Amino acid sequence: MRFILNLKEEIIKLKNELDVTLVAHFYQRDEVFELADITGDSLELAKKAKATTSKYIVFCGVGFMGESVKVMSPEKTVLMPKIACCAMARMIDEGYYEENLVKINEAGIANEDILPITYINSSAAVKARVGKMGGMVCTSSNAYKIIEKGLESGKKIFFVPDRCLGQNFAKSLNLKSAIVGDGSDLKEADIICYNGFCSVHQQFTVEDIEFYREKYPDILIAVHPECDPKVCDASDFVGSTSQLIKYIKELPVEQKVAVGTEFNMVNRLRSKNTYILSSTKPECPTMNETTLQDVYNTLKSIKDENIMKETEISVSEENIKYARLALERMFEI
Ligand code: 13P
Ligand code: SF4
Repeated sequence: MRFILNLKEEIIKLKNELDVTLVAHFYQRDEVFELADITGDSLELAKKAKATTSKYIVFCGVGFMGESVKVMSPEKTVLMPKIACCAMARMIDEGYYEENLVKINEAGIANEDILPITYINSSAAVKARVGKMGGMVCTSSNAYKIIEKGLESGKKIFFVPDRCLGQNFAKSLNLKSAIVGDGSDLKEADIICYNGFCSVHQQFTVEDIEFYREKYPDILIAVHPECDPKVCDASDFVGSTSQLIKYIKELPVEQKVAVGTEFNMVNRLRSKNTYILSSTKPECPTMNETTLQDVYNTLKSIKDENIMKETEISVSEENIKYARLALERMFEI
Protein backbone atom coordinates (compact mmCIF):
# COMPACT_ATOMS: atom_id res chain seq x y z
CA MET A 1 0.00 0.00 0.00
CA ARG A 2 2.77 2.33 1.01
CA PHE A 3 4.53 1.44 -2.22
CA ILE A 4 1.46 2.34 -4.33
CA LEU A 5 1.11 5.65 -2.47
CA ASN A 6 4.71 6.51 -3.22
CA LEU A 7 4.30 5.62 -6.87
CA LYS A 8 1.20 7.82 -7.07
CA GLU A 9 3.04 10.74 -5.52
CA GLU A 10 5.99 10.27 -7.86
CA ILE A 11 3.69 10.18 -10.88
CA ILE A 12 1.92 13.37 -9.81
CA LYS A 13 5.27 15.08 -9.26
CA LEU A 14 6.56 14.04 -12.68
CA LYS A 15 3.34 15.14 -14.38
CA ASN A 16 3.69 18.60 -12.84
CA GLU A 17 7.29 18.92 -14.01
CA LEU A 18 6.80 17.71 -17.58
CA ASP A 19 4.98 19.03 -20.66
CA VAL A 20 2.77 15.94 -20.64
CA THR A 21 -0.91 14.97 -20.66
CA LEU A 22 -1.85 11.66 -19.07
CA VAL A 23 -4.83 10.08 -20.81
CA ALA A 24 -6.84 7.01 -19.65
CA HIS A 25 -9.77 5.09 -21.11
CA PHE A 26 -12.69 4.24 -18.78
CA TYR A 27 -11.65 0.54 -18.79
CA GLN A 28 -8.27 1.21 -17.15
CA ARG A 29 -7.49 -0.02 -13.63
CA ASP A 30 -8.83 2.39 -10.96
CA GLU A 31 -5.39 3.44 -9.70
CA VAL A 32 -4.30 4.47 -13.22
CA PHE A 33 -7.66 6.04 -14.11
CA GLU A 34 -7.60 8.26 -10.98
CA LEU A 35 -4.35 9.95 -12.00
CA ALA A 36 -5.28 10.83 -15.57
CA ASP A 37 -5.71 14.42 -16.79
CA ILE A 38 -8.13 13.28 -19.46
CA THR A 39 -10.54 10.34 -19.23
CA GLY A 40 -13.29 9.18 -21.53
CA ASP A 41 -14.53 6.68 -24.06
CA SER A 42 -12.71 6.20 -27.34
CA LEU A 43 -14.48 9.08 -29.15
CA GLU A 44 -14.03 11.55 -26.28
CA LEU A 45 -10.35 10.60 -25.94
CA ALA A 46 -9.70 11.00 -29.68
CA LYS A 47 -11.23 14.50 -29.56
CA LYS A 48 -9.72 15.65 -26.25
CA ALA A 49 -6.20 14.37 -26.97
CA LYS A 50 -6.28 16.14 -30.35
CA ALA A 51 -7.13 19.41 -28.58
CA THR A 52 -4.27 19.28 -26.03
CA THR A 53 -1.18 21.41 -26.52
CA SER A 54 1.34 19.36 -24.57
CA LYS A 55 4.33 17.87 -26.37
CA TYR A 56 3.95 14.41 -24.84
CA ILE A 57 0.78 12.33 -24.62
CA VAL A 58 1.06 9.36 -22.29
CA PHE A 59 -1.90 7.20 -23.28
CA CYS A 60 -3.22 4.40 -21.07
CA GLY A 61 -5.49 2.29 -23.21
CA VAL A 62 -5.10 -0.09 -26.12
CA GLY A 63 -2.86 0.33 -29.18
CA PHE A 64 -5.43 1.58 -31.71
CA MET A 65 -6.32 4.48 -29.39
CA GLY A 66 -2.71 5.71 -29.16
CA GLU A 67 -2.38 5.30 -32.93
CA SER A 68 -5.47 7.45 -33.52
CA VAL A 69 -3.91 10.26 -31.45
CA LYS A 70 -0.65 9.98 -33.42
CA VAL A 71 -2.57 10.04 -36.73
CA MET A 72 -4.45 13.19 -35.73
CA SER A 73 -1.41 14.89 -34.13
CA PRO A 74 1.78 13.54 -35.77
CA GLU A 75 3.80 16.37 -34.21
CA LYS A 76 3.17 15.02 -30.71
CA THR A 77 5.20 12.28 -29.09
CA VAL A 78 2.64 9.63 -28.16
CA LEU A 79 3.77 7.10 -25.57
CA MET A 80 1.86 4.10 -24.27
CA PRO A 81 3.13 2.66 -20.97
CA LYS A 82 1.98 -0.73 -22.37
CA ILE A 83 1.19 -1.08 -26.05
CA ALA A 84 -1.54 -3.63 -25.45
CA CYS A 85 -3.50 -4.64 -28.52
CA CYS A 86 -7.30 -4.85 -28.36
CA ALA A 87 -8.22 -8.47 -29.21
CA MET A 88 -10.87 -7.34 -31.67
CA ALA A 89 -8.53 -4.91 -33.49
CA ARG A 90 -6.05 -7.78 -33.82
CA MET A 91 -8.62 -9.84 -35.75
CA ILE A 92 -8.14 -7.72 -38.86
CA ASP A 93 -5.08 -6.51 -40.79
CA GLU A 94 -4.62 -5.22 -44.34
CA GLY A 95 -4.32 -8.78 -45.70
CA TYR A 96 -7.62 -9.95 -44.17
CA TYR A 97 -9.26 -6.70 -45.27
CA GLU A 98 -8.23 -7.35 -48.89
CA GLU A 99 -9.26 -11.03 -48.70
CA ASN A 100 -12.72 -9.99 -47.55
CA LEU A 101 -13.01 -7.48 -50.39
CA VAL A 102 -12.19 -10.26 -52.87
CA LYS A 103 -14.94 -12.44 -51.35
CA ILE A 104 -17.39 -9.53 -51.65
CA ASN A 105 -16.33 -9.00 -55.30
CA GLU A 106 -16.80 -12.74 -55.94
CA ALA A 107 -20.37 -12.38 -54.67
CA GLY A 108 -20.93 -9.97 -57.57
CA ILE A 109 -20.42 -6.65 -55.76
CA ALA A 110 -17.80 -4.31 -57.25
CA ASN A 111 -15.54 -2.08 -55.13
CA GLU A 112 -17.22 1.05 -56.58
CA ASP A 113 -20.47 -0.13 -54.97
CA ILE A 114 -18.95 -0.49 -51.50
CA LEU A 115 -18.36 2.16 -48.84
CA PRO A 116 -16.13 0.83 -46.03
CA ILE A 117 -16.68 1.96 -42.44
CA THR A 118 -14.29 0.83 -39.74
CA TYR A 119 -15.03 0.78 -36.04
CA ILE A 120 -12.31 2.83 -34.28
CA ASN A 121 -11.09 -0.51 -32.79
CA SER A 122 -8.78 -1.20 -35.76
CA SER A 123 -5.15 -0.47 -36.61
CA ALA A 124 -4.05 2.71 -38.41
CA ALA A 125 -3.17 0.49 -41.40
CA VAL A 126 -6.76 -0.75 -41.67
CA LYS A 127 -8.11 2.78 -41.18
CA ALA A 128 -5.80 3.89 -44.01
CA ARG A 129 -7.22 1.20 -46.36
CA VAL A 130 -10.70 2.44 -45.49
CA GLY A 131 -9.70 6.10 -45.97
CA LYS A 132 -8.20 5.31 -49.38
CA MET A 133 -11.53 3.83 -50.51
CA GLY A 134 -13.42 6.97 -49.44
CA GLY A 135 -14.65 5.43 -46.19
CA MET A 136 -14.69 6.59 -42.60
CA VAL A 137 -14.25 5.63 -38.97
CA CYS A 138 -17.01 5.33 -36.38
CA THR A 139 -17.16 4.64 -32.66
CA SER A 140 -19.96 3.02 -30.70
CA SER A 141 -21.15 6.54 -29.72
CA ASN A 142 -21.64 7.79 -33.27
CA ALA A 143 -22.05 4.60 -35.36
CA TYR A 144 -25.74 5.28 -35.99
CA LYS A 145 -25.04 8.73 -37.47
CA ILE A 146 -21.99 7.60 -39.47
CA ILE A 147 -23.76 4.57 -41.00
CA GLU A 148 -26.80 6.73 -41.89
CA LYS A 149 -24.48 9.21 -43.57
CA GLY A 150 -22.64 6.39 -45.38
CA LEU A 151 -25.92 5.03 -46.73
CA GLU A 152 -26.62 8.38 -48.43
CA SER A 153 -23.95 7.32 -50.95
CA GLY A 154 -26.35 4.62 -52.20
CA LYS A 155 -23.59 2.03 -51.70
CA LYS A 156 -23.47 -1.07 -49.55
CA ILE A 157 -21.55 -0.60 -46.30
CA PHE A 158 -18.59 -2.92 -45.64
CA PHE A 159 -18.36 -2.74 -41.84
CA VAL A 160 -15.15 -3.89 -40.09
CA PRO A 161 -14.11 -5.49 -37.77
CA ASP A 162 -17.00 -5.94 -35.26
CA ARG A 163 -19.82 -8.06 -36.69
CA CYS A 164 -22.00 -7.41 -33.60
CA LEU A 165 -21.86 -3.64 -33.92
CA GLY A 166 -22.62 -3.94 -37.65
CA GLN A 167 -25.56 -6.29 -37.05
CA ASN A 168 -26.94 -4.28 -34.12
CA PHE A 169 -26.90 -0.96 -35.97
CA ALA A 170 -28.32 -2.58 -39.13
CA LYS A 171 -31.25 -3.80 -37.02
CA SER A 172 -31.85 -0.44 -35.39
CA LEU A 173 -31.89 1.18 -38.85
CA ASN A 174 -34.23 -1.54 -40.24
CA LEU A 175 -31.55 -2.72 -42.66
CA LYS A 176 -30.37 -6.16 -43.71
CA SER A 177 -26.92 -7.38 -42.66
CA ALA A 178 -24.75 -10.35 -43.63
CA ILE A 179 -21.36 -11.66 -42.51
CA VAL A 180 -18.57 -12.35 -45.02
CA GLY A 181 -17.78 -16.06 -45.17
CA ASP A 182 -20.72 -17.42 -43.14
CA GLY A 183 -22.71 -18.47 -46.20
CA SER A 184 -25.24 -15.62 -46.06
CA ASP A 185 -26.21 -13.77 -49.24
CA LEU A 186 -24.03 -10.66 -49.39
CA LYS A 187 -25.94 -9.23 -52.36
CA GLU A 188 -29.11 -9.04 -50.28
CA ALA A 189 -27.44 -7.10 -47.46
CA ASP A 190 -27.23 -3.33 -46.92
CA ILE A 191 -24.43 -3.80 -44.36
CA ILE A 192 -21.79 -6.47 -45.02
CA CYS A 193 -19.91 -7.25 -41.81
CA TYR A 194 -16.40 -8.54 -41.25
CA ASN A 195 -16.48 -11.53 -38.89
CA GLY A 196 -14.69 -9.96 -35.88
CA PHE A 197 -15.89 -9.64 -32.29
CA CYS A 198 -14.91 -8.62 -28.77
CA SER A 199 -14.25 -11.63 -26.57
CA VAL A 200 -15.03 -9.62 -23.41
CA HIS A 201 -18.50 -8.56 -24.59
CA GLN A 202 -19.25 -12.09 -25.90
CA GLN A 203 -19.30 -13.24 -22.25
CA PHE A 204 -22.78 -11.76 -21.70
CA THR A 205 -25.61 -14.13 -22.61
CA VAL A 206 -29.39 -14.18 -22.83
CA GLU A 207 -29.29 -16.73 -19.97
CA ASP A 208 -27.54 -14.11 -17.79
CA ILE A 209 -30.39 -11.68 -18.56
CA GLU A 210 -33.01 -14.32 -17.74
CA PHE A 211 -31.23 -15.11 -14.48
CA TYR A 212 -31.38 -11.46 -13.34
CA ARG A 213 -34.94 -10.88 -14.55
CA GLU A 214 -36.10 -13.93 -12.60
CA LYS A 215 -34.23 -12.88 -9.46
CA TYR A 216 -35.23 -9.19 -9.60
CA PRO A 217 -38.34 -8.74 -11.79
CA ASP A 218 -37.94 -4.92 -11.90
CA ILE A 219 -34.28 -4.91 -12.85
CA LEU A 220 -33.12 -3.04 -15.96
CA ILE A 221 -30.52 -4.51 -18.31
CA ALA A 222 -28.03 -2.16 -20.01
CA VAL A 223 -25.39 -3.41 -22.47
CA HIS A 224 -22.72 -2.21 -24.92
CA PRO A 225 -23.44 -2.74 -28.66
CA GLU A 226 -20.38 -5.04 -28.93
CA CYS A 227 -22.62 -7.66 -27.28
CA ASP A 228 -24.31 -10.33 -29.38
CA PRO A 229 -27.50 -9.09 -31.16
CA LYS A 230 -29.61 -11.58 -29.16
CA VAL A 231 -28.32 -10.02 -25.93
CA CYS A 232 -28.96 -6.48 -27.19
CA ASP A 233 -32.50 -7.43 -28.29
CA ALA A 234 -33.26 -8.78 -24.80
CA SER A 235 -31.92 -5.65 -23.03
CA ASP A 236 -33.62 -2.43 -21.96
CA PHE A 237 -30.81 -0.13 -23.06
CA VAL A 238 -27.93 -0.47 -25.54
CA GLY A 239 -25.27 2.23 -25.55
CA SER A 240 -21.60 3.10 -25.90
CA THR A 241 -19.42 3.51 -22.81
CA SER A 242 -20.33 7.18 -22.26
CA GLN A 243 -24.00 6.56 -23.09
CA LEU A 244 -24.09 3.72 -20.53
CA ILE A 245 -22.49 5.94 -17.88
CA LYS A 246 -25.07 8.69 -18.46
CA TYR A 247 -28.00 6.24 -18.48
CA ILE A 248 -26.95 4.49 -15.28
CA LYS A 249 -26.01 7.63 -13.35
CA GLU A 250 -29.41 9.15 -14.10
CA LEU A 251 -31.36 6.14 -12.74
CA PRO A 252 -33.11 6.58 -9.35
CA VAL A 253 -30.86 5.22 -6.55
CA GLU A 254 -33.24 2.37 -5.73
CA GLN A 255 -33.45 1.16 -9.36
CA LYS A 256 -31.54 -2.07 -9.89
CA VAL A 257 -29.54 -2.41 -13.09
CA ALA A 258 -27.36 -5.21 -14.50
CA VAL A 259 -24.70 -3.96 -16.91
CA GLY A 260 -23.07 -5.85 -19.76
CA THR A 261 -19.71 -4.22 -20.34
CA GLU A 262 -16.16 -4.14 -18.98
CA PHE A 263 -15.72 -4.77 -15.24
CA ASN A 264 -13.51 -1.82 -14.20
CA MET A 265 -15.95 0.69 -15.59
CA VAL A 266 -19.09 -0.90 -14.15
CA ASN A 267 -17.42 -1.33 -10.79
CA ARG A 268 -16.89 2.41 -10.31
CA LEU A 269 -20.24 3.56 -11.70
CA ARG A 270 -22.61 3.47 -8.74
CA SER A 271 -22.18 2.17 -5.22
CA LYS A 272 -25.56 0.40 -4.91
CA ASN A 273 -28.00 -1.63 -7.00
CA THR A 274 -25.58 -2.14 -9.88
CA TYR A 275 -24.75 -5.68 -11.00
CA ILE A 276 -22.33 -7.19 -13.47
CA LEU A 277 -24.32 -9.09 -16.11
CA SER A 278 -22.13 -12.17 -15.95
CA SER A 279 -21.11 -14.97 -13.64
CA THR A 280 -17.48 -14.45 -14.71
CA LYS A 281 -15.52 -11.21 -14.20
CA PRO A 282 -15.60 -9.43 -17.58
CA GLU A 283 -12.24 -7.72 -17.44
CA CYS A 284 -10.57 -6.64 -20.67
CA PRO A 285 -7.15 -8.34 -20.30
CA THR A 286 -5.35 -5.87 -22.54
CA MET A 287 -6.86 -2.77 -20.90
CA ASN A 288 -5.74 -4.20 -17.55
CA GLU A 289 -2.11 -4.61 -18.60
CA THR A 290 -1.11 -1.01 -17.81
CA THR A 291 0.09 -0.64 -14.21
CA LEU A 292 1.12 2.37 -12.10
CA GLN A 293 4.70 1.16 -12.39
CA ASP A 294 4.45 1.29 -16.21
CA VAL A 295 3.08 4.85 -16.06
CA TYR A 296 5.88 5.88 -13.70
CA ASN A 297 8.56 4.28 -15.92
CA THR A 298 7.23 6.08 -18.99
CA LEU A 299 7.14 9.50 -17.29
CA LYS A 300 10.60 8.95 -15.83
CA SER A 301 11.94 8.09 -19.30
CA ILE A 302 10.67 11.47 -20.56
CA LYS A 303 12.36 13.26 -17.66
CA ASP A 304 15.63 11.38 -18.26
CA GLU A 305 15.40 12.06 -22.01
CA ASN A 306 15.73 8.35 -22.51
CA ILE A 307 12.40 7.31 -24.02
CA MET A 308 11.91 3.54 -24.24
CA LYS A 309 11.46 2.66 -27.92
CA GLU A 310 8.86 0.00 -27.15
CA THR A 311 6.53 2.61 -25.64
CA GLU A 312 6.53 5.09 -28.53
CA ILE A 313 3.74 4.98 -31.10
CA SER A 314 4.87 5.37 -34.67
CA VAL A 315 2.71 5.28 -37.79
CA SER A 316 4.03 5.45 -41.36
CA GLU A 317 3.47 8.69 -43.32
CA GLU A 318 1.28 6.88 -45.84
CA ASN A 319 -0.94 5.42 -43.10
CA ILE A 320 -1.14 8.79 -41.32
CA LYS A 321 -2.30 10.43 -44.55
CA TYR A 322 -5.14 8.02 -45.32
CA ALA A 323 -6.14 7.01 -41.78
CA ARG A 324 -6.45 10.71 -41.03
CA LEU A 325 -8.85 11.13 -43.94
CA ALA A 326 -11.06 8.37 -42.50
CA LEU A 327 -10.93 9.91 -38.99
CA GLU A 328 -11.52 13.46 -40.25
CA ARG A 329 -14.59 12.34 -42.19
CA MET A 330 -15.95 11.03 -38.87
CA PHE A 331 -15.16 14.27 -37.01
CA GLU A 332 -16.88 16.33 -39.75
CA ILE A 333 -20.09 14.36 -39.24
P1 13P B 1 -15.96 2.91 -26.40
O1 13P B 1 -15.97 3.48 -27.81
O2 13P B 1 -17.34 2.77 -25.89
O3 13P B 1 -15.02 3.61 -25.52
O4 13P B 1 -15.49 1.40 -26.56
C1 13P B 1 -14.18 1.06 -26.76
C2 13P B 1 -14.06 -0.36 -26.51
O5 13P B 1 -13.03 -0.94 -26.71
C3 13P B 1 -15.23 -1.07 -26.00
O6 13P B 1 -14.93 -2.39 -25.78
FE1 SF4 C 1 -10.97 -4.52 -27.42
FE2 SF4 C 1 -13.01 -5.80 -26.26
FE3 SF4 C 1 -11.01 -4.86 -24.77
FE4 SF4 C 1 -12.74 -3.18 -25.93
S1 SF4 C 1 -13.18 -4.68 -24.31
S2 SF4 C 1 -10.52 -2.96 -25.86
S3 SF4 C 1 -13.14 -4.26 -27.88
S4 SF4 C 1 -10.88 -6.48 -26.35
